[in-house]
Amino acid sequence: MTGPNPKLRPKPWIDAITPYTPGSSRGPRGEALTKLSSNENPLGTSEKAAEALANAKGRLSRYPDGASETLRAAIGERYGLDPARIVCGTGSDEILHLAAGAYAGVGDEILYSRFGFSVYPAAAQRVGATPVEAPDTDYATDIDALIAAITPNTRVLFLANPNNPTGTFCAAADVARLHDATPPDCLLVVDQAYAEYLEPGEGDGALELAHAADNILITRTFSKIYGLAAERIGWAYGPPPVIEALNRIRGPFNVTTGGQEAAIAALGDREFIEKSRLHNTMWRAWLAERIGKLGNAGLRAIPSKANFLLVLFEGPLSAEAAYEGLVERGYITRWLPGQELPHGLRISIGTEQEVRGLAEALEELVSAAL
Ligand SMILES: Cc1ncc(COP(=O)(O)O)c(C=O)c1O
Repeated sequence: MTGPNPKLRPKPWIDAITPYTPGSSRGPRGEALTKLSSNENPLGTSEKAAEALANAKGRLSRYPDGASETLRAAIGERYGLDPARIVCGTGSDEILHLAAGAYAGVGDEILYSRFGFSVYPAAAQRVGATPVEAPDTDYATDIDALIAAITPNTRVLFLANPNNPTGTFCAAADVARLHDATPPDCLLVVDQAYAEYLEPGEGDGALELAHAADNILITRTFSKIYGLAAERIGWAYGPPPVIEALNRIRGPFNVTTGGQEAAIAALGDREFIEKSRLHNTMWRAWLAERIGKLGNAGLRAIPSKANFLLVLFEGPLSAEAAYEGLVERGYITRWLPGQELPHGLRISIGTEQEVRGLAEALEELVSAAL
């Protein structure tokens, strides 16, 4: 092969995309580390889901059910939704891209909050739309700022709730206000990847709004509390014409057989989900309190409703030095300079032992820096 072909150029908006950086699990010398960088379930996967996945391995030569029919029925039953208004995806990532592709293109704008989920700008750029960022308020989504940033060209509005990487949450009244201000020719995508970590009754009301609204799409995932990140399964609920549009452009066999069957089993294992939620609530509060005690050294955890904490380093210990010090002590977290957060580390809630070890390591680093 010769060198690059100057005549064969990707579209300029594709060239402009910064590739997604996945959380690492290895140190600089390739050593395995405790991975607290990808917001995975520290309790693993429901045994029932793992068993269903293993059973599906006997049918590898067959294409999966392209409509994920049984899985959609199981999701519908679990969440009280009409399966005809659900679409499944290769992770909710695929669905976010499909929503951008179906409703926006060159000349259109895709709006989201500053410090929103990092896939949103890429989803906009991939289809040639202009990514537009509304200002935050102390790292949280500012609904008024989002509303003020809506223009006649806004076609898709992404709201992650709870948000990644901040963990912040917009209450139901704010989400309803945002929807009221969303023009009819704009799709409001409420990305609820972490919704299952909320307390019962604490939801943002978006799923309920979506029953009647014709321009809301709710996205969910099996990658977080359901512990199936490796299988890449997401889903969305929305108005029939939106679901139809996404079905037209999704991959025809976009969820594997094993993924569909594992997800169905995971939905049925309510005990595992409740155990995972309670573990997260307890150890997130524990870690936030320990970090709160390091406030004199300039550390601050943003209040989180998700399965991670965004910790800001505003004193003598920099986030970069903390990141490197934690790696040396066997923990990998997510340092976020590429997301305008060079002073932030996102730390996933691990097992009890991992959270305790991480807190001790952080305290050691702080003492050494003071
Ligand atoms: C807010 C948010 N949305 C969507 C996703 C995508 O998840 P998946 O593609 O694994 O379903 C993530 C993953 O980290 C996320 O944090």
